[in-house]
Amino acid sequence: MTKPPIGGNRTGRKLGQKVKKGKLKASSRRWIERHINDPYVQRAQLEGYRARAAFKLLEIDEKHKILSGARRIIDLGAAPGSWSQIAANVTRSTDAEPKVVAIDFLPMDPLPGVHIFQLDFLDPTAPDQIMDALGGTPDVVLSDMAAPTTGHRQTDHIRTMHLCEVAAHFAIDVLGPGGHFLAKTFQGGTERELLNLLKQNFKQVIHVKPASSRAESVEMFLLAKGFKGRQGGAGGSEDISEERDLDEAPAE
Ligand SMILES: C[S@@+](CC[C@H](N)C(=O)[O-])C[C@H]1O[C@@H](n2cnc3c(N)ncnc32)[C@H](O)[C@@H]1O
Repeated sequence: MTKPPIGGNRTGRKLGQKVKKGKLKASSRRWIERHINDPYVQRAQLEGYRARAAFKLLEIDEKHKILSGARRIIDLGAAPGSWSQIAANVTRSTDAEPKVVAIDFLPMDPLPGVHIFQLDFLDPTAPDQIMDALGGTPDVVLSDMAAPTTGHRQTDHIRTMHLCEVAAHFAIDVLGPGGHFLAKTFQGGTERELLNLLKQNFKQVIHVKPASSRAESVEMFLLAKGFKGRQGGAGGSEDISEERDLDEAPAE
C-alpha cells in the first residue's frame, strides 16, 4: 500500500485551516480551504511532486504494476507534471536520451529527461511530433487530460470523454505488444463503443478509482492492460477478461 496521507503539520501547515471571509466568493474560499487542508496536497509538497495527482498514478501502479519495466512512456495532458516526474523516474530517462514525452496546451516547467510539447493533443500533427520525439515504441500511454470546464456539466463531460477516446485510438496506434493504456474518464461515462474497442485490443479492461481521487469527484480511470498488438488486435477472437474489485468497477 502507498503510505496513508500525512496527518497534518509536517509541511509546517496544520489541517483544518479556514480562509478568512473577505472579498473572496464563498465557492473560491471553499476551494482554497479544501486545497490547503488536503493531505495529498501536503504530501505532494513534502515528496517533491508537482501535483497531488501523483498519488493517483502511484496507487494505480502499486496495484496494477503498469510502470515497472517500462522503457518509454507518453504522458498526455501532463501539466504541471507529476505523472511525468514518476515516468522519468521509472524509465531512468535523461535529457541526453529522453524516454518520456509529455504534452499539454498549458505551459509546463522543464523536467529532466522529459521532452515537453506545449501543444493541443487534438492538433493533427501532435501524434507524429510525439512519436518523433520519443524515438521508439512506448510501453505505456497515460492520459490525465481533462477538458477545461465551461460550467456546463454535460458539455465538460462530453469533451473529456472525447479526449479519452482520441487518446485510446492513439494508444492502439502506437503501443508495443504487452503495453498499457491509462486514461481519465468519468463515472458511467465510458461509451460502449470505446470499451469494446479496448476490450478487443487489450487483455484486460477495468475502471479504477484510486483513494486519492476525491470521493465527491465523478473522475475515474480507465485501465487497459496488455496490448495484444496490431496484428491480432481489433476484431481478434481472444477472450475478453475483466477484473472485478471493491474499489474498481468492471468496464461494462
Ligand atoms: C488533471 S491535469 C493533469 C495533471 C498531471 N497528470 C499531473 O500529474 O501533473 C489535466 C491536464 O490536461 C490538459 N489538457 C486538457 N485538454 C488537453 C488537450 N486537448 N491537449 C493537451 N492537454 C490537454 C490540461 O491543460 C491539464 O493541464
